[in-house]
Amino acid sequence: NTMLAWQRTAFHFQPEENWMNDPNGPLYYKGWYHFFYQYNPNGAFWGDIVWGHAVSRDLIHWIHLPLAMVADEWYDQNGVWTGSATILPNGDIIMLYTGATDALVQVQNLAYPADLSDPLLIDWIKYPKNPVLVPPPEIEVYDFRDPTTAWLTSQGKWRISIGSKMNKTGIALVYDTKDFKTFERIEGILRAVPKTGMWECVDFFPVSTKLDIGLDTSARGDDVKYVMKVSLDDDRHDYYALGTYDENGVDFVPDDTNKDVGTGLRYDYGVFYASKTFYDQSKERRVLWSWIGESDSEDADVAKGWASLMGIPRTIVFDKKTGSNLLQWPVEEVERLRMKRCKFHNEKVMPGSVVLLNIGSASQLDIEAEFNIDKKDIEKIKQTNEEYNCETSGGAANRGALGPFGLLVLADEGLSEYTPIYFYVVKGSNGNLKTSFCSDQSRSSLATDVDKSIFGSTVPVLEGEKLSLRILVDHSIVESFAQGGRTCVTSRVYPTTAIYENAQLFLFNNATEATVTASLNVWHMNSAFINDKQVKLKS
Ligand code: FRU
Repeated sequence: NTMLAWQRTAFHFQPEENWMNDPNGPLYYKGWYHFFYQYNPNGAFWGDIVWGHAVSRDLIHWIHLPLAMVADEWYDQNGVWTGSATILPNGDIIMLYTGATDALVQVQNLAYPADLSDPLLIDWIKYPKNPVLVPPPEIEVYDFRDPTTAWLTSQGKWRISIGSKMNKTGIALVYDTKDFKTFERIEGILRAVPKTGMWECVDFFPVSTKLDIGLDTSARGDDVKYVMKVSLDDDRHDYYALGTYDENGVDFVPDDTNKDVGTGLRYDYGVFYASKTFYDQSKERRVLWSWIGESDSEDADVAKGWASLMGIPRTIVFDKKTGSNLLQWPVEEVERLRMKRCKFHNEKVMPGSVVLLNIGSASQLDIEAEFNIDKKDIEKIKQTNEEYNCETSGGAANRGALGPFGLLVLADEGLSEYTPIYFYVVKGSNGNLKTSFCSDQSRSSLATDVDKSIFGSTVPVLEGEKLSLRILVDHSIVESFAQGGRTCVTSRVYPTTAIYENAQLFLFNNATEATVTASLNVWHMNSAFINDKQVKLKS
């Protein structure tokens, strides 16, 4: 449908058509990043799930390959669902995935490449004796899915976790194996959190507390913390906790039990789900892949013939400064798409004003910005008990003393459509500043069948730090990162007039007291090469 063609993105991975959801089995092999994903070949809605497959040299430009696995066995007849890869020290590649059987039981299956000398890993073999794991008796057969990447135990066995629930308590089961064909259930569970419901797509990995590099999933040592992430089926968000891991007790313990798995921090406060990390051995980094769904209607998806995309891959490191969160940042390769740079230095934005940044078409951008509130303005205002909440405090239209201020992206000249990405600062009763980072979709589109929620959360700002943000704008997706990636917010937006050449960028300051100074680098972004034809590699 050409009428909706502008909604397609220019530098985000998307299948040529139809529906995608979770990233599956990410891995780097012989010079190629492999992206497998949940894919419906038959329409722009969830169903008939098989594994799509694409490869990239740089995580930005992609080549579509033939489907890696289809639903052709009794043990995955109702869907080849989410799974993870493990690369063994001898070079073997293990793929464990969930199959929905002919009876809709969720089982775990083993697959491996037919030919390890093929860097594109085109052909996959399913282990003839699948399934390798069936649900244990104490859980429902529909609550047993999404095996993790395996990590080595000190006894030389491979350990995996699988998400489930008991009543309303989300849990992560644990199994050990030597050969990925027979598994031993380990007593105890990695973590259980009441009232969080089914845990989908569990991810579990170490991060270094000393170095800015990523760690192999099996790495251990003194300067290591663990991250446990779950995707909550009930509220459709990805939550993580930082903590310690006791291998013998089979126990992940969060550093802060008030921010437990599924109740504390999120990777992203917008549209972002079923994500998965992998260790990129070529660049010693841990990379996060995510499924970014649509927030228009299913009818609109069917009309345009496609639904969902992958977020720009993010590197993940531990935030050594706060010690209590991760930092997520777009992989450096995305910067290769930067073209002309527009620079703005110390732009003064008075309370209640909107300033056009004259950069031309603003539908494909990479923005880095710093904001500074005049010290005198902070000193002169009163302390308050105001509890600001991005989602419920009225968005960018609600004026406070020290916020909101930030950018209007995907805005048309007459401001009939715009999406504010902004900071909101509150001077608390103790005199300390508390900062929120939000994305307001309420005026993003004149269309009526799209979700217009407001997203965001608080963001730690340390003594001496400026407020800083990074925004990637790509037609119908806006990915925003505050304070180096402490708080991230992804939005899908569907403007009808603020498109292509008509999309513009503005600074805004809707605070009543604060004068804000902004400095920005704005790059126009090239389109990525994402080939739209399945490559015929074999006849
Ligand atoms: C998460 C999920 C997984 C499942 C897959 C099915 O979005 O529901 O739990 O394996 O998608 O497509």
